[in-house]
Amino acid sequence: MTPSGFDVRPTAHPTAPQIRDTILESPGFGQYFSDHMAHVRWTESAGWHGKEVRPYGPLTLDPAAAVLHYAQEIFEGIKAYRHADGSVWTFRPEKNAERFRRSARRLALPELDDETFIGSLKALLEQDSDWVPTPAHEGEESSLYLRPFMIASESFLGVRPSKEVDYYVIASPAAAYFKGGVAPVSIWLSSHYKRAAPGGTGFAKCGGNYAASLAAQKEAASHDCSQVAFLDAIENKWIEELGGMNLFFVYKDGRIVTPRLTDTILEGVTRGSILEMAAEEGLTPEERAISIDEWREGAASGEITEVFACGTAAVITPVGELVTEDGSIRLAGDNGNPIAKRLRSQLLDLQYGRREDTRGWMTRLA
Ligand code: COI
Repeated sequence: MTPSGFDVRPTAHPTAPQIRDTILESPGFGQYFSDHMAHVRWTESAGWHGKEVRPYGPLTLDPAAAVLHYAQEIFEGIKAYRHADGSVWTFRPEKNAERFRRSARRLALPELDDETFIGSLKALLEQDSDWVPTPAHEGEESSLYLRPFMIASESFLGVRPSKEVDYYVIASPAAAYFKGGVAPVSIWLSSHYKRAAPGGTGFAKCGGNYAASLAAQKEAASHDCSQVAFLDAIENKWIEELGGMNLFFVYKDGRIVTPRLTDTILEGVTRGSILEMAAEEGLTPEERAISIDEWREGAASGEITEVFACGTAAVITPVGELVTEDGSIRLAGDNGNPIAKRLRSQLLDLQYGRREDTRGWMTRLA
């Protein structure tokens, strides 16, 4: 049993160290998985129980399981970083635990307490810490991406909240999310598809939001763009987010502006951390509505000097251009994105233990 109360059933077939090391040299994103997964079960009558870490492998689900029909599902994304002394840490897990509870409430799933959420990460890392890559140099972003998720597993075709639920954490070694690393990405502006509407599930991290973004993502790919920007569903005017990442705009007077949170925007942990870090970087953070016209005009006039996307997977990635049906929006001057790069290295230095953690944002996992 682990200190966080998880029973451990180790795999009889661990990945050979040479194979694991080859994977860790070039893991890509989300393609390989570690040897174990954490699991906790919930039933209406017994509550949360049966904490375990068991071999990674396929799930047995009844074909009538509610998640397969009505998408009652939520997830999180959080990374484990190896520090120079070999220890393994994660970044603000209590923020992910809090968002996971918020998502659970919206999807009528049971809430998982912070102790079990963070305990599940620790329990999994106690078994699979060898799967956390060691970055070869400072600029390298390699980490172990952790994916906690919760599914409605009751077999019942009526539409009501499931009385049986399973929570898992799987782990996948990860390099930079975008193939080009910090090279600016091109983004497609979806003029037809909407990601979220007021009163809907936009603020929750649920599979349905991502499913709804895929047709727009396909449209983006056909325009050689790697992500989609979504506008609000009511006025088709206000910038919301990229579906899997939040957006920031840097102004020449030192303001950094991000769309204010509404129930149609996911509250990113990286987004919140950038807002908190901004002042010590000499920047003035602003959360407010920002329109597509402001982006277009600010880019043309030189008022906006940088645009960047941020998220756990993406960290901080500059946006080079926004491709729209009416042509491209590019920044007037190419200044090399110094603010995005500086914030990115401040964040990575903290996450990889190269900078003092003055705010207590890091939690040791192994
Ligand atoms: C994350 O950043 O953790 C996400 O879940 C976004 C997804 C694009 C991988």
